[in-house]
Amino acid sequence: MITVREIQSDDLNPQAFIEEQCRLISEQVGASKAVNALSGGVDSSVTTLLAHRALGSRLLTYFIDNGLMREGEPESVVLAMKDLGVPVKLVDAPREFFSALKGKTDPEEKRQAITDTFYKTVFGRLVKESGASHLLQGTIYTDVEETVAGIKRQHNILAQLGIDTEAAFGYKVIEPLIQLRKTGVRAVGQALGMPENMYHRPPFPGPALAARVIGEATPERIALVRKATVVVEEELSEIEAFQYMAILHEDRVTGIRHAKREYGFQIEIRCWDSRDAVTASPTRLTFELLRRMADRVTSEVPGVVSVTYNVTTKPPSTIEAV
Ligand code: XMP
Repeated sequence: MITVREIQSDDLNPQAFIEEQCRLISEQVGASKAVNALSGGVDSSVTTLLAHRALGSRLLTYFIDNGLMREGEPESVVLAMKDLGVPVKLVDAPREFFSALKGKTDPEEKRQAITDTFYKTVFGRLVKESGASHLLQGTIYTDVEETVAGIKRQHNILAQLGIDTEAAFGYKVIEPLIQLRKTGVRAVGQALGMPENMYHRPPFPGPALAARVIGEATPERIALVRKATVVVEEELSEIEAFQYMAILHEDRVTGIRHAKREYGFQIEIRCWDSRDAVTASPTRLTFELLRRMADRVTSEVPGVVSVTYNVTTKPPSTIEAV
């Protein structure tokens, strides 16, 4: 059962919400310090700005480089926050995440491995080193809903699954956006003075590119889907879609290149129209655009011989493949 009360975007007063959440954050953290997990997505960026407004230098913001991020993302996210006056520490942790993901092919096991590495190994250490009492994170209502319904174990859901974070990891978790859906979060971001390219960014999942590799997420397979993601994001950034992505399949297929057989990789492209990620439908892309993406992916991503476009709706599909 969900015990959180949703605030629908029509009922949201962003300024009043910001004031109320800043008050609550100050009250909960008291004279102590808090750490904050920034991923660069809309939710964690809005949480960062809210918490920075509430706590100032008592907030320590970390970007965890888990090795699963998109091309250039760690550096660009740190820079964008610096422009907004928020200092961010980049924590280098790819080895820890890849060793936890080693040999795992089951979607829920992969998600669990990322959760454990993030909260226990990495943040357990950071909280201890910093002497903080709280971790702030950008969980939203949709994340809770899907986890509680047993659809996907969203990596950031803890309390709603009955996990006592203080006993398990040594810190309390504050989730200021938990009553909002994406539309509400974007409105709060805008009211906080974020640049539009930040509050309008398409969502990106916590498990990052590991959610877009079917089967084992090895450094090599992540590197491959990262390259395909560059192409798909370049080609689709002007389309008014909710979210778009490249997915690396586990099965390989026979292809032909330079008159020789090539048993290669398959990339699936998804592009979604959606309001709040609860339901979604495939964007009607032109055939020319689809063909251009296929040409670019097969020529720019080594070893890819097949590109498909998903035309399923959610449900029964989900937005991410894992
Ligand atoms: P699905 O794949 O469940 O995704 O249809 C719904 C929305 O949630 C994002 N997503 C996540 N976000 N942690 C997050 O913060 C996660 O573990 C996670 N998994 C999926 C997904 O990108 C989509 O916008």
